[in-house]
Amino acid sequence: MTARIIDGKALSDAIKAEVAKRVAELKKNGITPGLAVVLVGEDPASQVYVRNKVAACEKAGLHSRTVRLATDSTEEHLLDIVRELNRDDTIHGILVQLPLPAHMNSARVIETIAAAKDVDGFHISNAGLLMTGQPLFRPCTPYGIMKMLESESVALRGAEAVVVGASNIVGKPMAMLLLAAGATVTLCNSKTRDLGAQTRRADVLVVATGKPDMITGDMIKPGAIVIDVGINRKSDGKLTGDVEFATASKVAGAITPVPGGVGPMTIAMLLVNTLEAAERCAAKAV
Ligand code: GUN
Repeated sequence: MTARIIDGKALSDAIKAEVAKRVAELKKNGITPGLAVVLVGEDPASQVYVRNKVAACEKAGLHSRTVRLATDSTEEHLLDIVRELNRDDTIHGILVQLPLPAHMNSARVIETIAAAKDVDGFHISNAGLLMTGQPLFRPCTPYGIMKMLESESVALRGAEAVVVGASNIVGKPMAMLLLAAGATVTLCNSKTRDLGAQTRRADVLVVATGKPDMITGDMIKPGAIVIDVGINRKSDGKLTGDVEFATASKVAGAITPVPGGVGPMTIAMLLVNTLEAAERCAAKAV
C-alpha cells in the first residue's frame, strides 16, 4: 500500500485565502486584526517560526507587531510588555514564542496574557474551556490537525485515536479535540510501556514527540491516518518528522509529509484565531 499524502500546504493556502477575505470585510468596518509576536532570545528555530508567522499575517492583510527581547531580559520586563499589549486596542492576539529562556516561568508569562487575546489557546482559562467542551481559542496545531482530518473526511465518531506525546501545546489539547469529536482516545507519553501495542490499535495516529523517526511502519495499523507533528533537522540539514516516512507511507492509508504537512496548518489556524479575536472585539463594539 502507498499512503495518500495529506497536503497541509494546499489546505493552509485555502484557509489563509478565506482569512484574507474576512480580514478585508473587517477592514471595511475600520478594524484591522492585529497580532503581537514576542520572541525572547536567539533560538534559531523560534526565529524561523516567528518570521513565518509575521509573513503570513502580512500576506493575509493582518497587522503584526514583533517584539524582540534579549535572552537575558528579566521576566518582569517581559510581563510588563505583555501587560502593555493586553491594553493595546490595535492588538487582538498576543503570542509569546516558546520555549522561553530557562530563567523565565512560562506558565506565569502565559497566565499574564489576557485570555481574550490568547490566540495560542495556552492560557489555563482557554485550556479549561477546551476541556469542558466550550472552546474559545483552540491551540493552533491541534486545531489545524482537526481541519486536516475534516478535509480528508475521516470518520472520528467511535474511531480509535492514539496521540503520542502529552505536551500542553499539542498532545493534551489534541486528545481533547479528538474526544469531543467522538473518538476513543489514548494519550501516550514517554513512560508508555510497549508503545507499538498502543499505536498499532490506532485508526488515527497523531505523533508529537520531537524524536526523529521514532514511529516506524511496523508500529502502524494498515490503512491508518498518520499525522506527524515533528519538525526535526537532520545532520545533513534536511527536515524529518517524528514518523519514519519511508516505512510508514507503505502501511498507512494517509499520511502528512514533513515539511508541508502540519507546519503550514499551525500558521493558518493562528491567523484564524487572530481574525476571530478581532471579529469578537468588533461585535462587542457595536
Ligand atoms: N513553540 C512551538 N510551537 C509553538 C506555538 O504553537 N506557539 C508558541 N507560542 N510557541 C510555540
